[in-house]
Amino acid sequence: MSLSRRAVLAGGLALSACKPSGAAAPAAPIVLGPLKALAPFAVGTAVQAGYFDIPEYADLVATQFSQVTPEWEMKMEYIVQDDGSLKFDAPDRIAAFARQHGMRLYGTTLVWYAQKPPWFERLSDKDFGPKLDEYLTTVVRRYPAAGWDVVNEAITEDGTGLRSSMWSQRLGELGHMTRAFQVTKAADPTALRFINEYYLESIPAKLDTYQRLIERLLAAGAPLTGIGCQTHCNADLKPGGIAKAVAAIGRFGLPIHISEMDVSIARAKGLGVSRAAWEQAQARLYGEAMEAFCQLPAPQRFAFSVWGARDSESWLRGETKTDTPDLFDGQGRPKLATKAWADAIKA
Ligand code: XIL
Repeated sequence: MSLSRRAVLAGGLALSACKPSGAAAPAAPIVLGPLKALAPFAVGTAVQAGYFDIPEYADLVATQFSQVTPEWEMKMEYIVQDDGSLKFDAPDRIAAFARQHGMRLYGTTLVWYAQKPPWFERLSDKDFGPKLDEYLTTVVRRYPAAGWDVVNEAITEDGTGLRSSMWSQRLGELGHMTRAFQVTKAADPTALRFINEYYLESIPAKLDTYQRLIERLLAAGAPLTGIGCQTHCNADLKPGGIAKAVAAIGRFGLPIHISEMDVSIARAKGLGVSRAAWEQAQARLYGEAMEAFCQLPAPQRFAFSVWGARDSESWLRGETKTDTPDLFDGQGRPKLATKAWADAIKA
């Protein structure tokens, strides 16, 4: 396109943007420095290897964030094949991306009730434990991560107890967790070892059970060295829930990871609430999370991670195509939520 034609088009756009008097002025664009430069701790995002083929996506991740978590390609569902062999192409690509851009890698997830590869299921009781140990050792040694989600989502949906899973049935309710923490430590003593959980901000029973579980694990000698709060929430979450959860888990004195934050607008419920009002509520929640995180003593601030960089790649788009839960829109532009998040950072 010639320069003059572009200038004419731009002029036309500018003119059509002029509203008749009385109409609301268009909101000024939000301008922020790279998120990782604003925060004195790691700022992470979930990524998928395939998305690195989108140049704008790869640029945004490399520019804005200082840590990456593979969204699903470091999970058993990707790595463990039906014949028991292990596939590492996509997670290797993510690890290489992190290395190339000087970012930290965060591994997820080693033991998760939701992942029970058929190959593991078929193992005899005698082989089951040793094969899990072998898997954990191989994966953890392969990737020099800053930390791992060793145990993910161990608590029941309603928050009142511990889940029964293939792992707990074969290796014991607490035993499988303690074992996973020990094996992970032996494989890489330098990476931090996290337990990770969701809805701590919205289900009080879950927050209680989580704290009791952490106490029990520590008492049993599990080498757990970090606590995660996923922080997947909806824009209608009551204020105060995130702050309460982060303060409660902070009391253990261990490093804390806000590990998967996003704020769904599509899942929020309320009659007659405008999209603009939900966007403000979303911004308040991102701000509340950052404020709570910054109230932790500096050595406890492991990282603040979001579950996706741009709305366009959010996992929640699988549910609702118009949801906008992340800190950047589909064009990589920061939003009201990003500003609230950044404004709440305290060194
Ligand atoms: C989700 C990913 O976003 C999906 O791509 C994948 O298919 C399933 O897992 N809590 C977690 C994450 O701990 O691992 C989940 O990620 C989202 C909820």
